[in-house]
Amino acid sequence: MSRTPAEAQPVQLIFDFDSTIVAIEGLDELARLALADDPQRARTMEAIEAITRDGMTGAIGIDESLRRRLAMLTIKRSHVDALVKLLKRRLSPSFRKHIAAVRRNADRIHVVSSGFREYVEPVCAELGIPAERIHCNEFRWKGTAVVGYDAANPVAKPGGKAKVVRALKLPGRIVAIGDGVTDAEIRDAGAAHEFVAYCENIEREAVVARADRVARTVDEVLWLYRLPGSPSFPKSRMIALLCENIHADAAQVLRDEGYRVETLSDALAEDELARALKGVSILGIRSKTRVTARALESADRLLAVGCFCIGTEQVQLPAAAAHGVAVFNAPYSNTRSVVELAIGEIVMLMRRVPDVSRLLHDGGWRKSATGCTEVRGKTLGIVGYGHIGSQLSILAEAMGMHVIYHDLEECLALGNARKCRSLAELLGKADVVSMHVDGRASNHHLIGERELRKLRPGALLVNLSRGHVVDLAAVAASIRAGHLGGAAVDVFPEEPLSNRDPFDSPLRGLPNVILTPHVGGSTSEAQQAIGEFVAARLVEFVNTGGTSGCVNLPQISAPPVPRSHRFLHLHRNQPGVLAAVNAVFARRKINILGQALRTDDAMGYLVTDVDRRYAADVVDELKAVPGTARLRVLY
Ligand SMILES: NC(=O)c1ccc[n+]([C@@H]2O[C@H](COP(=O)([O-])OP(=O)(O)OC[C@H]3O[C@@H](n4cnc5c(N)ncnc54)[C@H](O)[C@@H]3O)[C@@H](O)[C@H]2O)c1
Repeated sequence: MSRTPAEAQPVQLIFDFDSTIVAIEGLDELARLALADDPQRARTMEAIEAITRDGMTGAIGIDESLRRRLAMLTIKRSHVDALVKLLKRRLSPSFRKHIAAVRRNADRIHVVSSGFREYVEPVCAELGIPAERIHCNEFRWKGTAVVGYDAANPVAKPGGKAKVVRALKLPGRIVAIGDGVTDAEIRDAGAAHEFVAYCENIEREAVVARADRVARTVDEVLWLYRLPGSPSFPKSRMIALLCENIHADAAQVLRDEGYRVETLSDALAEDELARALKGVSILGIRSKTRVTARALESADRLLAVGCFCIGTEQVQLPAAAAHGVAVFNAPYSNTRSVVELAIGEIVMLMRRVPDVSRLLHDGGWRKSATGCTEVRGKTLGIVGYGHIGSQLSILAEAMGMHVIYHDLEECLALGNARKCRSLAELLGKADVVSMHVDGRASNHHLIGERELRKLRPGALLVNLSRGHVVDLAAVAASIRAGHLGGAAVDVFPEEPLSNRDPFDSPLRGLPNVILTPHVGGSTSEAQQAIGEFVAARLVEFVNTGGTSGCVNLPQISAPPVPRSHRFLHLHRNQPGVLAAVNAVFARRKINILGQALRTDDAMGYLVTDVDRRYAADVVDELKAVPGTARLRVLY
């Protein structure tokens, strides 16, 4: 199926009504209302729905489908009135969302349906489609009761829709759009040039197989034919490719937004990635997929990369920025998991569990309280009072510990925690020191031989931050010398690249030492939180252009402005771009409703909301502004 818009030319859209303009089947709902008090309701409804299905897939003709369904029902005016109310509420979501764009194109929209004017017309009136462009059947009435229908109406007969369309003698390119086989027949009979299978509400394989194109939303239809009010690229055509077994919640968030989501369990090598990126708008990876400048070269639609993990070093960030591709990660979604492991390890070290556990595994037994203490009343020294450090502070206090902390920044003390003016002060007071600083280069060996000597004898050390922060050889020497009472280490200066590679450390085999393979943040809850967090950032970026949390573009938080168009202009950070962009708007007398600009060393990001009225070629002019890396138009 084609992914590119059709050539611009005058186009007439022939829409089906049921399960296309509205999300449900009108006649089935009418049956439900008419049978409300019928004791046989369930059985009759089942039979009616089966007939509807057979009609849609072409198993029986529309004449038979109508006759058999209506013969089972006693329909009153009140049922039809109730149906109209219901259908107005159940417009297909994209018709409701893009009602202004549909109204703008109403003069090229015709509705050809085997439904009934009594309910089709008032619903279409809401969309600005006048009665004369609605071609459907009519009920026969006796007082307030339906006693039949116009069986001679062409839409009540097989092939009738095509006859109706042909009789309209419409100029230009005629496109039939609907969810059923009878809509495909319009094209098959030569009355329309194309058939678009409309799958917003239901996707029938037999119908899709006969389609020239597939559309999942009405804005996608408008986009396909480049009609006024269509978006720059409809969400329902956006493909999100999620590699490396990303949590299913992320896929769901993206699907709920209307994107097509494709998932892979493995990472892709550079060449495979380059091929897979064709047509993809959103890429989700974890730590193994390397997004190189070369892979980005072949990404023709890529808007954003979501790293569903903490680090982003697997992505060539400047190259992504130069392509206008935003990169997001989830730096804080596993905070709680790290904190819980730290708490657990502090308890284990104070009770010397590593030693007795090893002894029992080896078949020994030693029951003793010597050297074992409660955490209650002990002093925990937290180095780095950021996301993890401050949360650890709360949990440790809840367990009765006294908390002291040291941070380079001015941080608000939580609970009864007390700030230490220097690292040395903290080291001299703590029973256990827990490291939660970031990985900046100056933190290399923040804890070395000199710092360990400042600790009280028997004090404990926990490091779940970065491997280079603690000098492990010095830690090993201190433990051997009987000064440091034990350590828990989750991060190492050099970590094996895979589970098949061997591990070594000066701490192996030492008493009261817990070693874990960088799993502080590795829990299913953290994976889920990462999935939700990154997916939400991606959706925000695609929907509003907002770059909060973006790691390679200037950050702008940009809530949508009602009744406006939004231009997202990403450019190289060079003088004069803002003036040049605004000169384009000024020349064309386009009213700017709001504007935000942020720059970093390399790139500038300009978000401009303008009045809804603007000429289409303004987009080309903006793209031609020197320094432009990418231009996107929203709504
Ligand atoms: N083990 C794991 O699986 C795992 C998981 C998540 C995070 N981490 C690591 O944990 C660390 C903390 O993460 P976070 O989310 O709390 O980061 P954060 O950026 O929120 O906090 C770090 C804090 O450390 C402070 N700091 C930096 N250098 C310091 C120094 N020399 N002395 C005192 N304070 C200093 C900063 O000012 C900041 O407040 C990071 O290194 C992160 O990479 C490890």
